Amino acid sequence: MLSERVNRIEKSATLRISDLANQLKRSGKDVISFSVGEPDFATPQHIMDAAKKALDEGKTHYTPSAGIPELREAIANKFKENGISASADDVIVTLGAKQAIFEAALSILNEGDEAILFDPAWVSYESCVKFAGARPVWVRTDEKRGFIPNDFLEFITDKTKLIILNTPGNPTGAVFDENTLKMIADIAKDYNIFVLSDEVYEKIIYEGTHLSIASFNGMHERTITVNGFSKAYAMTGWRLGYATAPPEILDAMLKIQQHSTSCATSFAQYGAVAALTGAQDCIAGMVSEFRARRDLMVNGLKSMGFECARPRGAFYVFVNVGQYGDGMCVAERLLNEAYVAVTPGGAFGPSGANYVRISYATSQARISEGLERIKNILVR
Ligand SMILES: Cc1ncc(COP(=O)(O)O)c(C=O)c1O
Repeated sequence: MLSERVNRIEKSATLRISDLANQLKRSGKDVISFSVGEPDFATPQHIMDAAKKALDEGKTHYTPSAGIPELREAIANKFKENGISASADDVIVTLGAKQAIFEAALSILNEGDEAILFDPAWVSYESCVKFAGARPVWVRTDEKRGFIPNDFLEFITDKTKLIILNTPGNPTGAVFDENTLKMIADIAKDYNIFVLSDEVYEKIIYEGTHLSIASFNGMHERTITVNGFSKAYAMTGWRLGYATAPPEILDAMLKIQQHSTSCATSFAQYGAVAALTGAQDCIAGMVSEFRARRDLMVNGLKSMGFECARPRGAFYVFVNVGQYGDGMCVAERLLNEAYVAVTPGGAFGPSGANYVRISYATSQARISEGLERIKNILVR
């Protein structure tokens, strides 16, 4: 009954845990969620005010498919900060970074092509690649190297068309350094491969500096840079992301957008203009709170004997729980016995089977309580 295309995609393994967590919540249990992928802060007031103003002014109709000109202009200026020279015409506004990634994969990949994913990687890359009919090729990264990829030349074939990278990264919080990005860029140039650089956690960085691979020599013409408002400005529900790409690819992405969603929500786009052009100190406030939470979480896990490195970005810790069972078993046990929801690491690629992803996008009080519960169940 269903298409082959949709049958290629598995339901997310994370859903099993979140379904169970919701059942427990409905039955009145106090579940602590370390599985969320979104900031728990409110969207800053000036952004909400700009969207409300747009509503009051009747800006409630379709916008140009690629986004309102003022927002595309603001995004082009923002890309300049990343060393990417783009004009408003080189920018597309999408319904979340996720739509940009989906459109890019469908625009570039053919049946039988291969796409390199650094393992572990965010759950939706694999699905986007498979939707496009291509094959994900997992390149394992090593926890001892901070989940930073090594030379991966041996994985390149004449079918390799795309490399997907994500720094700062979900689920590990790894931040790729300049040498790593240069190594990836050199492979991409030598073998004529496109790069999709997902930079949605760009602003949530504690150590190191964010670098955009598109700013490296010779990379502009082969990179799709994706970013969004969800993580930096606590705007997950607004569904707004954006991308810049070589013109042919951008046109292809726009075609998909025109025939699927038409455009991003009109008044949300006006809020996004305020996000980019207004004061940026709201980000610093959120990042400093995330840093305190990271330290609390990592110190707590270390004191229980887990050997987790201190992530340099995003708001997740990827923890090897192998001594207590595989990631799925431990996640189920923590949920059923401690009422703590974490995400099984296998959802992020084959190397994550013995890991769980713990998100610290929740208050310090809840983190302390959750750590205590984990300790009581696993360590005692
Ligand atoms: C690495 C990564 N990329 C993209 C997204 C999607 O972001 P958006 O809300 O902008 O679609 C997420 C969301 O969790 C993410 O973790």
